Amino acid sequence: MLEVAFSKPALPKSGILVLVIGEGEKPEGLWAEVDKASGGQIARALAAASFKGKRGQSCTVLAPVSGIARVVAVGLGKRDAAGLREYEEAGGAAAAASATQEVMTLVPGGSAEQAAHAALGAVLRAYRFDKYRTKEKPEDLPKLARVAVVHEEHAKVKVAWPELAAVAEGVFLTRDLVSEPANVLTPDEFAKRCEELTELGLKVNVLGLKEMKKLGFGALLGVAQGSANEPRLVVIEWHGAAKKKVKPVAFVGKGVTFDTGGISIKPAAGMEDMKWDMAGAGTVAGLMAVLARRHAKVNAVGILGLVENMPSGTAMRPGDVVTSYSGQTVEVLNTDAEGRLVLADALWYCQERFDPRFMVNLATLTGAIIIALGHDYAGLFSNDDGLAQKLTEAGEATGEKLWRLPLAEVYDKMLKSDIADMKNIGGRPGGSITAAQFLQRFVNGRRWAHLDIAGTAWASKDNAVTPKGASAFGVRLLDRLVATHFEE
Ligand code: BES
Ligand code: MN
Ligand code: ZN
Repeated sequence: MLEVAFSKPALPKSGILVLVIGEGEKPEGLWAEVDKASGGQIARALAAASFKGKRGQSCTVLAPVSGIARVVAVGLGKRDAAGLREYEEAGGAAAAASATQEVMTLVPGGSAEQAAHAALGAVLRAYRFDKYRTKEKPEDLPKLARVAVVHEEHAKVKVAWPELAAVAEGVFLTRDLVSEPANVLTPDEFAKRCEELTELGLKVNVLGLKEMKKLGFGALLGVAQGSANEPRLVVIEWHGAAKKKVKPVAFVGKGVTFDTGGISIKPAAGMEDMKWDMAGAGTVAGLMAVLARRHAKVNAVGILGLVENMPSGTAMRPGDVVTSYSGQTVEVLNTDAEGRLVLADALWYCQERFDPRFMVNLATLTGAIIIALGHDYAGLFSNDDGLAQKLTEAGEATGEKLWRLPLAEVYDKMLKSDIADMKNIGGRPGGSITAAQFLQRFVNGRRWAHLDIAGTAWASKDNAVTPKGASAFGVRLLDRLVATHFEE
């Protein structure tokens, strides 16, 4: 993670200086100072580039003052209308423009809180998964290592920072997990990485094959049975509420460490993407880490269903009937609709064991959600309007946006099976909805929401605060949900 420091406004003697500029603003403070030192060169460059401070605009001026390698102007849009999200985006743009130097001095302006969020944006954008790059030349590596945030109320910014640093650490844990290839991140390895979280004060328990067989997790184990890598169910608990007995909030994640489709095998093109079919579980792990790191005053439980979906001589066949932990039977007509089978047992186990205030599950569940919503909104399904509303608002606030889709009897009927309680697919029309209906059959009538993150868990291009690759979509959204509504 980038190192972040805070100080009072003063021109740096080296590195990159980033000025966050609101629409229509005139030079003042450090901006005026550096412009003067450059002999008006910065003002001329901004005018020549038609830089007006609009949201998303930016302009780089090379070496305008001796010592300073670049001055970068980043547009914020109208400062009065800018929320935390806009400051994060500006920080993200600042980091993206500052890879060539070790130190960036960031001048965000705004309130102390807004300035801290600009720093968060910079830190999030500067993430890189470089564990397996052994041959990069030093000159090709990004150099940025340190952000100096300058602000009149720098002491206040500093106080606001640790909570946000906790968020960034959780996001990075998720991004690391999601980026790992499936030969490394098997269910067992994933569970081991979760066990390391006990260092943060989390309680972590892992159920293995034997335990799940004994409990009767027929749906999850049906998916797992074709793989040489044994499944795991990870239970992560955070006890942060002052009153010990407060019921927990619960988060459940689909953790298919690789999804070949099983016997209903996927086409070869793009199959490598299915290493990130564990993003739901990765997000739950990252979220639990955030709650622990920032000592959230809440009781929370995270459940991760970890399996690998492979075709083999021991794999589940299309037409097989499995008996889920809930007792309901499922006719598996397509072994590629495996995530719902994993979640069926994880959700039932969660509500039965923890009696939670609500359950939110996350899953890269359907290709159909990408067709419906693309890569900017995740699908939201819920049996509770209040919970859906809170989630939607938390999504707007963090930039991890949700769009609600319906649940209804007509869709539920599409899961009718000729020989079992239900089948695991409902046909192509409304594919994301029938998948959600399937999950709803395993929540036992409890308050619940399902986030289909198949379109948002991974980005094929750089975004404001997310470089290309694993986004950790959901970590910040759910942390915000908890912080706003469920802490004492
Ligand atoms: N993991 C996939 C969904 C997915 C597809 C995520 C593309 C990200 C990108 C899921 O297990 C799956 O295969 N779903 C099937 C369901 C179908 C067989 C009913 C799908 O969406 O095609
Ligand atoms: Mn699948
Ligand atoms: Zn899948």
